Amino acid sequence: MENNVKPEPTIFVIFGAGGDLTWRKLIPALYNLYLDGWMPERIVVLGLDRAEMTDTEFRDHLKEGVDKNSRRGKVDKKRWDAFAQNLFFSKADFEVDKPFQNLRKRLEKIEKSWNAKANKIFYLAVPPGLVQNIAHRLDSAKLYKDWQRSRIVVEKPFGRDLESAKKLNETLTGIFLESQIYRIDHYLGKETVQNILAFRFGNTLFEPLWNRHYIDHVQITVAESVGVEHRGSYYDHAGALRDMIQNHLLQILCLIAMEAPVSFSGNEIRNKKVDVLHAIRPIPFEQINDFAVRGQYAAGWIEGERAKDYRQEPDVAKDSLTETYAALKLFVDNWRWQGVPFYLRTGKRLPAKISEVAIQFRPVPHQTFPAAALMDWRPNRLLLAIQPQEGIFLRFEVKHPGLTMHLSPVLMQFYYREAFDVDPPEAYETLLLDVMRGDTTLFMRADQTQAAWQVLSPVIQAWEKIKPYSFPNYQAGTWGPEEAEILIAQDGRSWVMPTYLQCQENMAACHVMTRPPS
Ligand code: BG6
Repeated sequence: MENNVKPEPTIFVIFGAGGDLTWRKLIPALYNLYLDGWMPERIVVLGLDRAEMTDTEFRDHLKEGVDKNSRRGKVDKKRWDAFAQNLFFSKADFEVDKPFQNLRKRLEKIEKSWNAKANKIFYLAVPPGLVQNIAHRLDSAKLYKDWQRSRIVVEKPFGRDLESAKKLNETLTGIFLESQIYRIDHYLGKETVQNILAFRFGNTLFEPLWNRHYIDHVQITVAESVGVEHRGSYYDHAGALRDMIQNHLLQILCLIAMEAPVSFSGNEIRNKKVDVLHAIRPIPFEQINDFAVRGQYAAGWIEGERAKDYRQEPDVAKDSLTETYAALKLFVDNWRWQGVPFYLRTGKRLPAKISEVAIQFRPVPHQTFPAAALMDWRPNRLLLAIQPQEGIFLRFEVKHPGLTMHLSPVLMQFYYREAFDVDPPEAYETLLLDVMRGDTTLFMRADQTQAAWQVLSPVIQAWEKIKPYSFPNYQAGTWGPEEAEILIAQDGRSWVMPTYLQCQENMAACHVMTRPPS
């Protein structure tokens, strides 16, 4: 990855520019890149959608999105106006060829006026059903021809199972080179997710311990307190397994479990990650309940507010069998990880929004201390907190002050915001800049997406075959269905309460050495 290089002149074409993603994520990210001086000297952002809108209406609509969603809050009028003069809108029907021909002419015209070749980024912020169609029309209009400068960005979900992902990959790789395709998983753009690489491979301290000899198990939690909000029609056909585990959680697992890359180059890192996916032991279909649990939320209370039943959410079927919670137990069959379970869980309407990785170390091989000294003894644990408080926490044992020998766990804490005192960029800022610079490191390659679907295939098949008769099976505001507790309890373990919540609930029990930043 080339750091500190500003992108060359760029034309950023957004298909589906009238939609939520453009309003909430893409334009706030581009505006922040502009404020931070990362935008190319020459840039045009061209929004395409079915709606009728003038450039001015488009800009006003996007300004409101930036005001509401940018990490910097409301725009500075002068700076916004300077940025907004690069934003344009065109009405376009993606089901016919004409707008694609017009687009080609428009791009040629812009390049001519700049007297320079431009990067052409085709960002597909559209429902999954339109992706193949748009790709084919970009092909017929010869819009992808400049393979060094033309790039296509595809949002998740990337297919809905192994077969559909293969077909989608065949279509895209039949038109574009793999190096032109950017499959986005926004988790890979998060600072703390990227930091897993820095932490693992920029330090010598932990690497000797990072294996089956010292690690008992790993837990990856991505909990959300929100429900499906206005995305019922999409979510009710996806569910937690496809929406979150197939991409975000498996990507985190890859970063935790991968071998050290030889260099920090896109393909090298992606090779090492795909090795992990290939090493995941296939889940036996007949024992699916010992490895996978699903749940759906019923009404409940979260932070003092009433949350409705999933089946009462807009655009969700009244008898829906879609899971809003999923937990898996996976094994990575290689020398490093043989026998170490990886427990993954994610769900909507859980008590809080928290993403955390817990690395649980093994107990000491022999207890030197008398039983009375060990009443509070706990094995070491390393927590990588991804959100909302980004940090790293290490639990270890010390002597409790006093005249007797008594061991007590303490927590050494590192908080990003406290250490660096900066506002980290949003995931989309990192990812859009990488697309403009032509860096694919943080994007998923075709084989990665397929290998991830392959891991989930037995679960998808079993869950389709055996209907969940107990749905809904967890109350909004709780940590998921009882079966998820059983999944881990049957191995003599339990889910880790996220550190941030432990500390919020009881500072003393948290044994804080530094206080979390407010
Ligand atoms: C998206 C999922 O990919 O990630 C959503 O489609 C989910 O359902 C979101 O809410 C969570 O992302 P974050 O960054 O808020 O943790």
